[in-house]
Amino acid sequence: MSARVSVVLGAGRGIGAATAERLARRGDAVVLVDRAGDDRRLSYSMASTSDLERAQAATRRAAAAAGAGGDGDGDGDGDGDDRVIALRADVTDPAALSSALETAEARFGGIDAIVVTAGVIAGGVPLWEMPHAELRAVIEVDLEAVITAARLGIPALLRRPAPRNGRFIAVASTAASRGLPMLAAYCAAKAGVVGLTRALAAELRGTGITANTVSPGSTDTAILEQSARLYDLPSAAAFAAQQPIERLIRPEEVAAVIAHLAGPDSGAITGADHAVDGGLAI
Ligand SMILES: NC(=O)c1ccc[n+]([C@@H]2O[C@H](COP(=O)([O-])OP(=O)(O)OC[C@H]3O[C@@H](n4cnc5c(N)ncnc54)[C@H](O)[C@@H]3O)[C@@H](O)[C@H]2O)c1
Repeated sequence: MSARVSVVLGAGRGIGAATAERLARRGDAVVLVDRAGDDRRLSYSMASTSDLERAQAATRRAAAAAGAGGDGDGDGDGDGDDRVIALRADVTDPAALSSALETAEARFGGIDAIVVTAGVIAGGVPLWEMPHAELRAVIEVDLEAVITAARLGIPALLRRPAPRNGRFIAVASTAASRGLPMLAAYCAAKAGVVGLTRALAAELRGTGITANTVSPGSTDTAILEQSARLYDLPSAAAFAAQQPIERLIRPEEVAAVIAHLAGPDSGAITGADHAVDGGLAI
């Protein structure tokens, strides 16, 4: 069987980069997509171009280590180069996202899994005091871009001939199920993603394509560092105590669950939200 093709949106660092690496290690061809540049509406940095290059290099090393599937570039050097590509695209821009998906399909002959990890955070004040530009950034990236990714990406998953094992996975958050003060817009967007994905699962009935969300708790990435700043905490480590596991979650631990859902063995799981939250939501 030829390798599965997975597209990871927001793969420049953090959970997305860990997911890309994990998928390549188990033999998928992987397309990493990230805006790789800052969003002027937000007061913290997004992944940079060098972050995206680093994530691509790590994913290529993982593809090379996967070995058995070969690296597919026909030159037999096993370096993983053409099983893994990175593209710059802003997921809130439908034309850019569409072009990235077209490139993935053309390059690898189709798409089997789309994982939306791109996300931003803003808040730190009650909703009614939140600057409009920050509100728009949260709703556009955390909710509208997931809707766009589904509208543009699911037709690509459907273009695979039946019987399919297509997968649409969006990263939501514990914020989807808990009312976190000073993060109301983020909570609204993430709850929207869970609702959206549940409905997609019903719409995808009988297609062989599943739709799921993964909801991390406090995970050691740049978003959590920004959350600590929003709450005036000394560092992200302060969030560890609120989780029953009494530590932060590693991005690789979230990636492991996403990778299972993105694989061929998860066909009986659809419309579900999967907490990887160290018990934060209980
Ligand atoms: N870290 C946590 O504690 C935590 C908890 C719950 C949910 N999440 C969610 O996990 C997902 C991944 O976040 P992370 O923790 O790895 O943080 P992160 O900031 O390290 O990663 C987010 C990535 O998304 C990219 N991105 C942002 N806007 C984009 C856009 N418009 N187009 C393309 N790429 C864009 C960034 O450049 C970055 O590479 C997010 O959806 C986040 O909301 C994180």
